[in-house]
Amino acid sequence: MSGLLVVVGTGIKAVGHMTLDARAWIGAADEVHYVTTDPITEQMIRGLSPGAQSLARFYEVGRARHDTYEAMTQTLLAGARAGRTVCAAFYGHPGVFVWPSHDAIRRARAEGIRAIMEPGVSAEDCLFADLGLDPAVVGCAQYEATDFLVYRRRPDPSAALILWQIGAVGDLAWNPGRTNADNLRVLVEELVPTYGADHVAVVYEAAQLPTFAPSILHVRLGDLPGAPLTTASTLFVPPRERRAPDPAIVARLALDPRRFGIGA
Ligand SMILES: C[S@@+](CC[C@H](N)C(=O)[O-])C[C@H]1O[C@@H](n2cnc3c(N)ncnc32)[C@H](O)[C@@H]1O
Repeated sequence: MSGLLVVVGTGIKAVGHMTLDARAWIGAADEVHYVTTDPITEQMIRGLSPGAQSLARFYEVGRARHDTYEAMTQTLLAGARAGRTVCAAFYGHPGVFVWPSHDAIRRARAEGIRAIMEPGVSAEDCLFADLGLDPAVVGCAQYEATDFLVYRRRPDPSAALILWQIGAVGDLAWNPGRTNADNLRVLVEELVPTYGADHVAVVYEAAQLPTFAPSILHVRLGDLPGAPLTTASTLFVPPRERRAPDPAIVARLALDPRRFGIGA
């Protein structure tokens, strides 16, 4: 009797983003556990699997997120260890900024249990569509907001920058609706030397319900500590400057220099 762990994503926008793969696994699994952010997706999951259980019960205000994630991982592993097919459904892409999904898969595999992940539509995918950003054009770096500060990541002013979990910057516990303005000031201090306080960024929230529009709030970096942020906010910082091509590299690659505006 060998168990199976399948991690799927339900996307960001209710109904339309849930892939056929995700629906099939949710419908076929012996047990289903989920983290969703809207009631329609929750209803869909329960329609496909009436016994499905929300993992959100492990969130408690002030509780370290690490503890919550460990409880989620243990729940997923328990069923798979008992030989059941367990489906874990996380909103968005289940492998993008989701600790327990990767952790449960790693630990299941280490115990000889088959474990797989199916991709989903992430907030980043929605951002690319709603803000008209193609990362191929200017490049794009992305970080978790607290990680960006703690590890002193260096932004490239010629590339796009995406900061996730901006509403919880500097907070390792679960405190929805309580963004720390002092922590945002630290973030502003780190960004301003590269971009300037007047550089305009976007506080972005993809629509979670069909027919609704995304929230796209333009904010000067200097005003970020007073911006209205939620647990679903993502910060997009556009590039400040264009990068000049390197003629020596263009020559070594035998590329046409005119294609890069060299010698035009
Ligand atoms: C724990 S991560 C989950 C990400 C999710 N797995 C995904 O694929 O998008 C939570 C963070 O994702 C981003 N996020 C979640 N929902 C969002 C939305 N509707 N619009 C923009 N960003 C969102 C925010 O940065 C938020 O703090």
